[in-house]
Amino acid sequence: MNNYSFDKTTNRKGTNSVKHDLLNKLYGKDDLIPMWVADMDFDTPPFIFDAIAKRAKHPILGYTFRDESYNQAIIDWQNKRNKWQIDSAQISFTPGVVPGLLMAMDAVSDIGDEIIVQTPVYFPFFATIKDNGRKIVYNTLLEQDDCYTMDFENLKSIITPKTKAIIISNPHNPVGRVWSRRELSQLVNICYENGIKIISDEIHSDIVFSPNRHLPISSISEKAAEISFVFMAPSKTFNIAGLSTSFVIIQNAKLYKKYEKRLDAFHLWQGNIFGNVATQAAYSEQGEQWVDSMLEYVEGNIDFVVGFINNRIPKISIKKPEATYLLWLNMKEYSMSHKQLTAFFINDVGIAINHGRIFGKGGDGYIRLNVAASREVIENVMMKLEAAINSI
Ligand SMILES: Cc1ncc(COP(=O)(O)O)c(C=O)c1O
Repeated sequence: MNNYSFDKTTNRKGTNSVKHDLLNKLYGKDDLIPMWVADMDFDTPPFIFDAIAKRAKHPILGYTFRDESYNQAIIDWQNKRNKWQIDSAQISFTPGVVPGLLMAMDAVSDIGDEIIVQTPVYFPFFATIKDNGRKIVYNTLLEQDDCYTMDFENLKSIITPKTKAIIISNPHNPVGRVWSRRELSQLVNICYENGIKIISDEIHSDIVFSPNRHLPISSISEKAAEISFVFMAPSKTFNIAGLSTSFVIIQNAKLYKKYEKRLDAFHLWQGNIFGNVATQAAYSEQGEQWVDSMLEYVEGNIDFVVGFINNRIPKISIKKPEATYLLWLNMKEYSMSHKQLTAFFINDVGIAINHGRIFGKGGDGYIRLNVAASREVIENVMMKLEAAINSI
C-alpha cells in the first residue's frame, strides 16, 4: 500500500541545491527543468526529519561517533533487503562513496598502478583514479540492442602485473544493469586469479525493480568477500546526499585494517552527527515502507517514459533499466554530437541532462535522464521532448 505521496513538487530554488541552483553556472540558463545529477526531487521522508530534529534539540553538537545501534541498523537493513549477513567489525565509514573509493584504491595500490573501469560509467571514477596518480584502464561494456554485459575476454587481455583493482558500479550507473550472480562470479574468478581487488560502488543498490535482486558482490562467495570492498549509503535511497554519510563493508580483516588506516590518515572517520541519526532512522521499518512506495512510484515514471518514447518518439531507443532512476536514452539516430545534444536539450527542450560522452567510451550518442521527480514534471518533460523532436 502506498502510504507516501510523491506527487508533490517542492521548490528547491534558493536552497543551494546542486541540481537546481547551479543550472545557470553549468548550463548557462536558469529556467531549465533539471533532469541531470542523481538527486531526487522527492521530499526526504518525515521520519528522518524527526530523528534529526530530536538530535538538534540538544544544545551541543560536539564531536561524535557511531555506536553499536548505528551498525546494527546497517546490519539489519542488509539482512532484510539483500539477505546478506554482515557483522559490526566489517563496517567502516566514508563521508561520501567517491572519497571512499579513493581510500580503498589507496589501500590496495601505489602510484603508477593500473585501475580498471567499465565504461560508460559514473564519470567521477575517472578523476578519482587519475588525480590519485593511478592509471585508468578501460574495459568498455559490450552493448547489443541497448543491453549491456561485461566484456570478460577483453578484461583478461588488459590485465598486467600493475593492475591492482577494478572499480565496478552495481547497479550500473548509467546503463541500469543489476549484475547477475553469473556475471559477478565470472568477474570474481578473473580478479581472484590475478590478485585484483574489487572496489564495488553499490550506492544505487536499494533502487532495484522487481524481479531483479541486488547482490552485494561480497555476498556471492568467500572468494568474493576476500577481495572486495562494498560501498553503500542511504544518500541516494532517501535523498539525503547533503548529509555526507556513507559506509563500506569489508569482510577481509586485513583489507579492513588497510582501509581504516587511510580513513585515519585523512582524519575522516568522524562523520556528521545528523548523518548518523539519519542513517539509523532510514534503515528502519518505516524506511522499508518508504523505499517500497518510492520504488513503485519511480517504476511508474520509468514505465511512463519508456512507453511514451516507444509509442511517440520511436527514433529514440530506450530500455527499461533493472535499477536506478536514471534512464539511458540512445539518440544515435539523430546523429548529433554531444555538444549538439546538450544544446538541443537546453535550448529546444528546456531541460538539463547529462550527455553520454562524459561517461566515457561507449557513451557517445546517448543522454542520461533522471526521472526521480513528480509524474506531472515527467509528463511535462516528455511533451516538451516530443514537441522539440517534431520541430527538428
Ligand atoms: C554510481 C555513483 N557513485 C557515487 C555517487 C556519489 O556518491 P557520493 O556523493 O556519496 O560521493 C553517485 C552519485 O550520483 C553515483 O551515481
